[in-house]
Amino acid sequence: MHAIVFGQSGFGKTNIIKVIMKELSRPKLAENSVPCMFFDFHGELTGKDEKHFVDDIGAKILDPSAGLPINPLYIPRDPDTGKRYSFLFISSQVSQTIGSVFELTPIQITILETAIESVYLQNGFVKEDPKTWDKPAPEFNKVWDALQAMASEETNNSIQFAVTRLKPLFINNIFRGKNEGIDMVFAGPTIVRLNALPNIYLRTALVNFFLVQLYETMLSKGPTKSIRLAVIVDECKRVSNVPVFKELFREARKFGLSLVNASQRLNDFPEDVISNSGTIIGFKMMATDANRFSKELGSKNRSKLTFLLQQLEVGEAVIRNSQNMPFTVFKTKKAS
Ligand SMILES: Nc1ncnc2c1ncn2[C@@H]1O[C@H](COP(=O)(O)OP(=O)(O)OP(=O)(O)O)[C@@H](O)[C@H]1O
Ligand SMILES: [Mg+2]
Repeated sequence: MHAIVFGQSGFGKTNIIKVIMKELSRPKLAENSVPCMFFDFHGELTGKDEKHFVDDIGAKILDPSAGLPINPLYIPRDPDTGKRYSFLFISSQVSQTIGSVFELTPIQITILETAIESVYLQNGFVKEDPKTWDKPAPEFNKVWDALQAMASEETNNSIQFAVTRLKPLFINNIFRGKNEGIDMVFAGPTIVRLNALPNIYLRTALVNFFLVQLYETMLSKGPTKSIRLAVIVDECKRVSNVPVFKELFREARKFGLSLVNASQRLNDFPEDVISNSGTIIGFKMMATDANRFSKELGSKNRSKLTFLLQQLEVGEAVIRNSQNMPFTVFKTKKAS
């Protein structure tokens, strides 16, 4: 159910993503439509030229600079027991995610984790009393106050550096919500205009928090064989480096979350992501990727295929999935 799309710049990745979004949004039978969500790192689908496409599929554009209804400190329930996870677990998970995205050192991650824990403690959460974990989650921006308080008490360089680096995460006030609005993404196609955010760290952090919250929502809905939501990300390399992503990628399918990841190089995708993707689509690629992909495809005539993969034209691709074994060469339609 997961897919990856790769290939050199300008050979058709964004175009096929548009084709996929259109087919999910406007299938021949309306009841077969699947809501999809595109994380647009570079503004590829929100420019003036794309207005026609956006209107045609009826997509809603989410602008994170105007704030999102997500609170990374929200504590979900364990679907097996129905009880809330420990706030210590969430403190660790959130600090690991931010640490990985913002390239913090282990000491800085620990500082951030301490700041997050302190915010829960200030809001009445008690380690030994799980009943207190049911309290409303503290506002995310309180972590910024805690970090600043820690920085003013200590001249430790690690704290100062962490505070400077993380400032955009808080001063932009992106995560304002209480998680009440995440269900809107199941209503139809959504495009998240990540390029409205000032830097790549913030964009990546947002995708990860969104994915974690989506995954929690899926868990609470329970396992399913159908697809509830297709999530499309075109900067897989950055997003998949975050520890929580791998777990999510492995488990998401069971709960009806299908992930389509795009990137320029096959080598941008971690091994786990490749092995868990039922569909792989490759556009024109460089020699190293062609070598690897032809091996992956198990072709009898590898050198011929390696050569072919480097000669593909704009819009031409090689697909491999259960219906196309070992692979099929095809020409994509031009999305309107
Ligand atoms: N099947 C096709 N038929 C005709 N034109 C196509 C086709 N696929 C892509 N194109 C055109 O080729 C150009 C580049 O395509 P696209 O933007 O999809 O590339 P990309 O792989 O996403 O590049 P990048 O990595 O830089 O984002 C666009 O102008 C697009 O309209
Ligand atoms: Mg593109």
